[in-house]
Amino acid sequence: MKSPASVLGAILAAVLALGGAALWAAFRPIEQPIAFNHNLHVEEFEMECADCHLHALNGVRATIPNIEVCADCHDEAQSESAAEARLVAYIADGERVPWRQLYWVPEHVYFSHRRHTKLGGIECETCHGAMGDRVVPAARPLIRVTMKRCIRCHQESGVSNDCLLCHR
Ligand code: HEC
Ligand code: HEC
Ligand code: HEC
Ligand code: HEC
Ligand code: HEC
Repeated sequence: MKSPASVLGAILAAVLALGGAALWAAFRPIEQPIAFNHNLHVEEFEMECADCHLHALNGVRATIPNIEVCADCHDEAQSESAAEARLVAYIADGERVPWRQLYWVPEHVYFSHRRHTKLGGIECETCHGAMGDRVVPAARPLIRVTMKRCIRCHQESGVSNDCLLCHR
């Protein structure tokens, strides 16, 4: 027979381990397959956000660009960069770059980019921070997506905070 204390200890340990795993899953740094440099493309080559994030102004999802967008300029190497060499290899193999998504809402939440950018006139930076200044990919969201943040701005902008506006 195990003593009540050791049973309690085992339960406590299991709870802590699960909590730890959930915390780790939530805060673990995200590594991208290619060291993409936003700043170089945005500042140096004067590309607009929507040149790559094709539906950031006119769609629900902004989309993370993949080889069909990059191939416009990278179907052949134009530099000695190892990161670019990896990209050129993906393009040559017709293989998708497995980018990991940083910003997301749960499935029970509806969020439309077009509504906020094109119609609401809100800058990308307001919700995403200075992504255009990044010289290496961000390991976590620069600004966390929380219900509190959505609701605060809706309140300030005079937009409805009806639960069913966002949860549908
Ligand atoms: C009002 C806040 C807000 C603004 C403004 C905004 N975004 Fe987002 N963005 C979000 C949220 C919330 C998500 C997660 C959405 C999801 O999971 O569908 C997201 C996700 C993304 C993603 C990854 C998922 C996807 O939608 O493909 C990209 C890329 C992105 N945004 C780019 C942009 C760009 C570029 C702009 C400016 C043109 C912009 N966003 C403006 C809130 C915003
Ligand atoms: C409009 C043209 C254009 C598009 C589209 C484009 N790039 Fe580039 N990219 C460039 C140029 C120009 C360079 C600089 C080459 C050099 O160093 O001379 C570059 C450099 C790079 C490098 C090497 C930079 C470094 O850090 O040393 C990587 C990696 C890269 N791009 C990734 C991408 C990815 C991923 C995409 C698609 C999502 C993409 N690029 C789309 C023009 C473009
Ligand atoms: C040359 C193409 C290109 C341009 C231009 C570009 N991006 Fe990106 N963006 C990418 C790529 C590739 C990724 C995925 C790798 C990374 O996170 O660096 C990405 C990732 C992102 C993400 C994270 C999406 C997610 O949830 O994973 C946001 C937000 C974002 N970009 C915003 C912007 C904004 C804002 C601008 C304009 C200031 C911009 N991007 C311009 C190619 C581009
Ligand atoms: C910085 C301010 C701001 C933030 C942050 C923000 N919103 Fe909004 N939202 C607006 C504005 C402004 C509108 C009205 C846009 C318009 O149509 O003029 C709006 C409209 C909406 C609508 C109505 C769209 C429709 O189709 O009826 C939904 C849904 C919504 N937001 C969801 C969200 C969610 C979910 C978040 C958080 C992930 C969020 N918003 C964060 C400002 C914001
Ligand atoms: C403006 C958009 C918006 C409105 C309005 C809104 N929510 Fe949310 N809600 C979100 C977003 C985004 C998330 C996911 C991010 C998070 O959990 O903070 C969320 C998450 C939740 C969750 C899940 C929390 C969790 O831990 O998984 C519940 C429950 C919830 N909302 C209930 C409500 C109720 C009840 C209302 C009305 C009183 C409401 N929401 C109004 C955007 C909204």
